[in-house]
Amino acid sequence: MALDPQTFLQTLEERIGFTNKDKHLLNLYADWGKQIAPEMSDHFYSYLNRDSEMSAILNAKEGRLHRLKDTFIQWFYEMFTGIDNWGVSYAERRWRIGLVHVQIGIAPQHVVPAMATVIYHVGKKLRTDGKDLELYDALSQICMIDLAFIEQAYVEVSSAAVLKETGWTEGLFRRLIATGANSIQGVNR
Ligand code: HEM
Repeated sequence: MALDPQTFLQTLEERIGFTNKDKHLLNLYADWGKQIAPEMSDHFYSYLNRDSEMSAILNAKEGRLHRLKDTFIQWFYEMFTGIDNWGVSYAERRWRIGLVHVQIGIAPQHVVPAMATVIYHVGKKLRTDGKDLELYDALSQICMIDLAFIEQAYVEVSSAAVLKETGWTEGLFRRLIATGANSIQGVNR
């Protein structure tokens, strides 16, 4: 079940249709991305801070929010540069971000709406600055790829932990999940 970040990235790119044209467009607007990143970071954290659960996590440690704002700026800019043209470093960086969120115990329910906030604000900014709408599509795609990394981390970490602890096979584990889902939902398929 171990995930290879680079293979995962390639699979997502093909699935979503994130092409060289999209990458080129993002590179072209990297300076703009860098310029608007602090504003996007402010929007992002004021959204998270409005929720009491997320706010408690963000402010649990001295200086965490401040550090996170800088981390976000870097993350946002990397969507434009692709770090190493969306190669091994990009994939490993995104995988690490996923693992960090699982480790901290941020529930996955928070992550999807948070990414939607990024897409909403970047779209708004793009229109105000009169930028190419194709850039919006490219950005939405890379946001979805980054999101898939975080979401997948939850599954991978929990599965690996259960398999290690119990010695179950993957097949047995999957059957138990299917049975569990049936009994919770009361759905017989
Ligand atoms: C679009 C979704 C999100 C993105 C792109 C994102 C981005 C990041 C990045 C880049 C890091 C640094 C990871 C590292 O250390 O390598 C991080 C850490 C963290 N994120 Fe997120 N994040 C997202 C959602 C959330 C949500 C919903 C919360 C909820 C409160 C959250 C809270 C945190 C916390 C507490 C840390 C660790 C800070 C520390 O080092 O003390 N993030 N995030």
